[in-house]
Amino acid sequence: MAAILMDGKSLSSKIRESVKIRAAELKEKGIVPCLAVVLAGEDPASLSYVKSKEKALTQAGMDSRDIRLPENTREEELLSIIAELNSDRKVHGILVQSPLPAQIDEEKVFSAVAPEKDVDCFHPVSVGSMVLQKPGFLPCTPHGVIALLREYNIQINGAHVVIAGRSNIVGKPLANLLIRKEFNATVTICHTGTKDLNFHTLQADILIAAAGKPEFIKPDMIKKGAVVIDVGINRVKDAQEKKGYRVCGDADPLVAQKASFYTPVPGGVGPMTIAMLMQNVVESAQRSKP
Ligand code: GUN
Repeated sequence: MAAILMDGKSLSSKIRESVKIRAAELKEKGIVPCLAVVLAGEDPASLSYVKSKEKALTQAGMDSRDIRLPENTREEELLSIIAELNSDRKVHGILVQSPLPAQIDEEKVFSAVAPEKDVDCFHPVSVGSMVLQKPGFLPCTPHGVIALLREYNIQINGAHVVIAGRSNIVGKPLANLLIRKEFNATVTICHTGTKDLNFHTLQADILIAAAGKPEFIKPDMIKKGAVVIDVGINRVKDAQEKKGYRVCGDADPLVAQKASFYTPVPGGVGPMTIAMLMQNVVESAQRSKP
């Protein structure tokens, strides 16, 4: 039997509707939730992500401060823009789209964002707060994955979750969240140094594909009935497509014939990242003093 598709688009809409209500309540108190979205350079995928984020802000009745910088932006310029946004009381969240141009030290930039406006949870203090379960924001994609698992009543408690990928944005924080007592999963992280990847992926009750490699998780790498969460968003060349490329995940869609649940790409995890971002922005505005 084919897997049940986990509809991130529909859950994302539900969450964004509730954000819209919260934003409207704040507006009555004179607070308009606002996210500054900073994009440096012209990476087409990044441009498309930030446009989606800005559109979602508008739909939720929130403001976006769109900051576009050229590819050759100097690190000091970007740092000074962030310093201004940090002290701007009308701005409740700051998002610097990654990756940044090569001449800019990404870590330095993320560390310059005030933790109380760090809706991405990229600042070292935010990461530390997440690990220690102190107040702060949860990272958007990992939080979105957990929200989807919960929506579909997937048992996380006691489950063996195998994550393929150790990125700072997905693999590491997701592993950290899932081992919290409230989720209680046993987590294995696989990466390029893992000796027998298939051995590990075959053990997974829940397999998270987050390595940024197009369709590399194949049906023979998963246990029958496993839950497969595909975090990948890859653009691969395809002459048949009008745009010259197609978007695919990190898992071969054929895994759906063996899995019990599966997140499609697009329409699975992607929309959840945006929904959780919207939630963090409204939350930040709520925490702010008018
Ligand atoms: N690049 C890829 N994913 C993300 C994200 O969630 N936030 C930011 N800022 N950049 C990204």
